[in-house]
Amino acid sequence: MRTYYCGELRKEHIGETVTLYGWVDRRRDHGGVIFIDLRDSTSIVQVVSDPQRTPNSYDLANSLRNEYVVEITGRVTQRPEESLNPRIPTGEIEIYADTIKLLNSVAKQLPFQVSTADADPVREELRLKYRYLDLRRDRMANNLQLRHQVVKAMRRYLEDVEGFLEVETPILTRSTPEGARDYLVPSRVNPSEWFALPQSPQLFKQLLMVSGLDRYYQIARCFRDEDLRADRQPEFTQLDMEMSFMSQEEIIELNEKLVCHIFKTVKGIELQRPFPRLVYPEAMERYGSDKPDTRYDLELVDVSDVVKDCGFKVFREAVTNGGIVKILPIPNGNDSISNVRIKPGGDLFKEATDAGAKGLAYIRVRDDGEIDTIGAIKDNLTPEQKQEILRRTDAKPGHLLLFAAADTATVNKTLDRLRQVIAREFGLIDPEKINLLWITDFPMFEWNAQENRLEALHHPFTAPHPDDLSDLKSARAQAYDLVFNGFEVGGGSLRIYQREIQEQVFEAIGLSPEEADNKFGFLLEAFEYGTPPHGGIAYGLDRLVMLLAKEESIRDVIAFPKTQQARCLLTDAPSLVDTKQLKELHVASTYKPKS
Ligand code: AMO
Repeated sequence: MRTYYCGELRKEHIGETVTLYGWVDRRRDHGGVIFIDLRDSTSIVQVVSDPQRTPNSYDLANSLRNEYVVEITGRVTQRPEESLNPRIPTGEIEIYADTIKLLNSVAKQLPFQVSTADADPVREELRLKYRYLDLRRDRMANNLQLRHQVVKAMRRYLEDVEGFLEVETPILTRSTPEGARDYLVPSRVNPSEWFALPQSPQLFKQLLMVSGLDRYYQIARCFRDEDLRADRQPEFTQLDMEMSFMSQEEIIELNEKLVCHIFKTVKGIELQRPFPRLVYPEAMERYGSDKPDTRYDLELVDVSDVVKDCGFKVFREAVTNGGIVKILPIPNGNDSISNVRIKPGGDLFKEATDAGAKGLAYIRVRDDGEIDTIGAIKDNLTPEQKQEILRRTDAKPGHLLLFAAADTATVNKTLDRLRQVIAREFGLIDPEKINLLWITDFPMFEWNAQENRLEALHHPFTAPHPDDLSDLKSARAQAYDLVFNGFEVGGGSLRIYQREIQEQVFEAIGLSPEEADNKFGFLLEAFEYGTPPHGGIAYGLDRLVMLLAKEESIRDVIAFPKTQQARCLLTDAPSLVDTKQLKELHVASTYKPKS
């Protein structure tokens, strides 16, 4: 029977006989004496077997290989002075192995070294295919621990301090698209009808408020069939919350306390409250983004009014067509960023065109104060216009000013991307900094040019600002997002709880009364049975843990994630299924593989 975990052993245990279980992390032979780093879920301890002192265990110790599974019984002994290892918690002791039992061996060559001592990078595809081995490694094991600690801190705070109740909501539910595509599940017993996997528990949590539950939370799995990125998975987890009879301010305050509790418990960090806030228009103006990374400055400057009548057609037309001209001023950018990078073929040019811009214009302020520009600007801006641009951007010798001119969304997207690239390149990001920021006063709707209609910026259940009800289409929403170092880690809002307002919002996004009734009739009806004012928020748990773990991908904080192609490399899902299964479901594929 196990007497201790490896990582528990210290000097106080010297002289005790202990039984340990674990994996051979590494085996070394030092002149006939065998050293084994034995690893379990807690840490590593050094085990020694030598032909003189422990003859019973020696032959087996000698035959062990990495990742064999063993039971070891032995005496805890002080390490000699010269082999003390302050880098591991068990570094002052070692175990002299009286007996070793081999519980399982490794039959095949390991696809990569698991050992903690082996820090060689391993290709991600290989790590995902053999995820069970990857999870044995320190980095991933620590990340899963951290994730567990975060969830535990959330539960403790919400339940013990704030009186929230955890409720599970259905996974097989109705298709009510909230922005992304749904994952659909055919119903066998209701031929030709489909369930959808929830994109979030939004409507159920609102209905729980109608039920009088008052404070709900759930660690909820959500499913969205959308294009994947480093911070997005098709299947991800939210901390989902909803509260009745609370104002936006009260909800924000409760959430700040929750976030402070998480940081304190998990990282020992005391955050300052209240967190800073920015209203959406200001965030877009200054950073071109509703999730700005405020650990560094590099603020954008709008010069549309300066250049609206200038001789340079690209600037003039951008403004005439309702767009803008904005600048990213880069201190010390003149020397370090060459024209080759800004012009066609360059990496910054590509970054800009990927964001939808046609190109980039620039002004350089040489070290002697001389101004140098691309030809188009040189001849087409008056000295006064140039001076005003330098004044507004506070340009000093050594500055590089990058211009984007297009519709507002494209300009902001372009300069937001460049701002991030430049901050990384110039080392402006302090990795120890934690900037938490609320963004509020989002517009209710944004224009979807492809579908030629308004769509809800958050979701259509978000309550409009009460002062803006007379012009719903341009109303502000009572919504708030929490941004952590440039990532949106949470988003929420006060909700609509009156039928007429909900109907007006459905109408604004182009749903006919029949469509609204067909899709959301159950919600509209519920509003007629005494719905309390309510609001809530959901955090992206994976994103939050990714940032706390200082990882760059959420795949590194999820035990079994999907690839960017939405595949599980371990189980090879998704997969084809038997024709019999499909028949039972009354489903036939129309897909024709390209030959
Ligand atoms: P929203 O869609 O903003 O809001 O989602 C809340 C948070 O979930 C995280 N998130 C994701 N994380 C990983 N992969 C994804 N594909 C993904 N999509 C979103 C983000 C985001 O801030 N029902 C509302 C919440 C509410 O209003 O209460 C909702 O789901 O961190």
